[in-house]
Amino acid sequence: MNTTHRIVICLGSSCSARGNARHLATIREFLAREGLEDRVEISGSLCSGHCKDGPNISIDDKIWYGIDNGSLVDILTHTLKREE
Ligand code: FES
Repeated sequence: MNTTHRIVICLGSSCSARGNARHLATIREFLAREGLEDRVEISGSLCSGHCKDGPNISIDDKIWYGIDNGSLVDILTHTLKREE
């Protein structure tokens, strides 16, 4: 695997309930559709204390707060496809 990107999804109860449980599926679908599965490592994290701003996802150490499904796809497109 030649990983070039790292996504960390907050799987604390608040972020999960506010959308991150669903966002994991969105990320996996995006990576499969774009053929990026081998280049991205996905992991989960515990609550970081920023629940009120959630759901939160970190991509390459930049934290995105309050994402929804639409903004997540935009972020993935902008961040992961920028090298094409
Ligand atoms: S549950 Fe995600 S920051 Fe608290």
